[in-house]
Amino acid sequence: MIKLKNVYKRFEGSRTHAVENVNLSVRKGELLGLIGESGCGKTTTLKLINRLEEPSQGDILVAGENIRKHRPEQLRRNIGYVFQGIGLFPHRTIEENVAAVPELLGWEPEQIRRRCNEMLNLVGLSRSEYGARNPTDLSGGQQQRVGVARALAAKPEVMLMDEPFGALDPITRAGLQDEFKNIQLQLGLTVIMVTHDMTEALLMADRIAVMRNGRILQLGTPAELLNDPADDYVQEFVDMPRRRAERLEQLMN
Ligand SMILES: Nc1ncnc2c1ncn2[C@@H]1O[C@H](COP(=O)(O)OP(=O)(O)O)[C@@H](O)[C@H]1O
Ligand SMILES: [Mg+2]
Repeated sequence: MIKLKNVYKRFEGSRTHAVENVNLSVRKGELLGLIGESGCGKTTTLKLINRLEEPSQGDILVAGENIRKHRPEQLRRNIGYVFQGIGLFPHRTIEENVAAVPELLGWEPEQIRRRCNEMLNLVGLSRSEYGARNPTDLSGGQQQRVGVARALAAKPEVMLMDEPFGALDPITRAGLQDEFKNIQLQLGLTVIMVTHDMTEALLMADRIAVMRNGRILQLGTPAELLNDPADDYVQEFVDMPRRRAERLEQLMN
């Protein structure tokens, strides 16, 4: 469903590549976790897929078609994007936020209203209670739900999520992780989810790509990464959740 072939990105004026020879293939209905330290190229990789950035080299295919064949606006109909941080339009109501893409696409008002209702319900917020509010009147977790509803509003098959739960407290975060996983399975969405939290990646992803300095070090299932890490760096990353669990266990004894 999503394919990156020998993709490079170097920003103007920079001597190093933000993304370097990335090859990646995400199957339909799969949730791929993209994990790595701050600055390793995760956000840039997502932006290349919906053409917020253009690659310096390489090809990207979505649903079998080279994304260069489509105008960015056309491409983004089929690709929902949840931004890093909360990223709602601050001066628009919740309903206006969710309606943004369908409005751009020229849907009928009645159809938009119905879709907003449906999407807000899907993420556990009612349109009658929350639709007219402003983003700042909602908790972080509720705002993040709206971000997911907005990304899903135009019925995309593909979702790109940039640290979608990063700004949330641990309890809200765990709840939303489960909820989103259910939504993803229910709708059969193909997802690339960026995170820097290995526990989150292990719990949610079908496969995980570990990235460092613009390159993918290893791509595999959680079990493959845990049992057969490609190098010391990947090992250290996948060991983190285990080490924390062990420390907790010691505290309880
Ligand atoms: N618009 C930009 N112009 C120049 N350099 C950028 C730009 N966006 C990102 N970079 C650089 O590219 C690298 C990767 O950044 P990014 O993809 O945002 O990393 P991550 O999301 O993994 O934290 C970093 O070194 C960052 O400074
Ligand atoms: Mg980022």
